[in-house]
Amino acid sequence: MQLINTGHTRLVVLAGPYAFKIAKFRLLYALWRIVVTLWNREAVSKMSLWRRKRGGVMSVVLQAVFAGVYANLAEHRRYQEYPGAGLVPTLTTWWGIVNVQKRGDTLRAIAIDGHPLFQQTHLDPSLSQDLLRPEQYCMLHDQVLLADYGNPALEPVFRAWISG
Ligand SMILES: Nc1ncnc2c1ncn2[C@@H]1O[C@H](COP(=O)(O)OP(=O)(O)OP(=O)(O)O)[C@@H](O)[C@H]1O
Ligand SMILES: [Mg+2]
Repeated sequence: MQLINTGHTRLVVLAGPYAFKIAKFRLLYALWRIVVTLWNREAVSKMSLWRRKRGGVMSVVLQAVFAGVYANLAEHRRYQEYPGAGLVPTLTTWWGIVNVQKRGDTLRAIAIDGHPLFQQTHLDPSLSQDLLRPEQYCMLHDQVLLADYGNPALEPVFRAWISG
């Protein structure tokens, strides 16, 4: 068994042919972000932005604390909703707290630019963290597949891909 602790939102345990993705609860991180926002005197502009774009301050705090659960639930749904999108299979989810994925091999320098979703980054350059880093992908059955596809911001990418 091997433990990986590199994910921001999930702790990933590799065991046999499976990857167990355990949601992190980031209460301290959320509190830290609030303190930094207040400290930088950005609070008023940030809060009005959050109200306009992200459903209010409480919703932003919940999204930060439960980001791992949201990511796990999104991966479970998207794997069923977007067959053929080049995703590492998510076999099951236990209430979003733990996802079970097929285990892939880590990619380092292999080109990922042939992946179906890679082409969609022009939509939003901020998605490069999700789609342009080799650590986001795995090699499984001789295919390059995306292993980390739970970010809510990826929804337009999936829609653009499915509509051709
Ligand atoms: N199915 C898998 N098979 C093998 N390794 C995996 C698998 N899923 C994830 N990993 C490994 O665990 C690491 C973290 O997983 P992942 O990127 O899904 O978590 P995250 O919390 O969403 O990460 P990030 O920091 O990118 O937000 C990956 O970079 C990869 O090395
Ligand atoms: Mg990742």
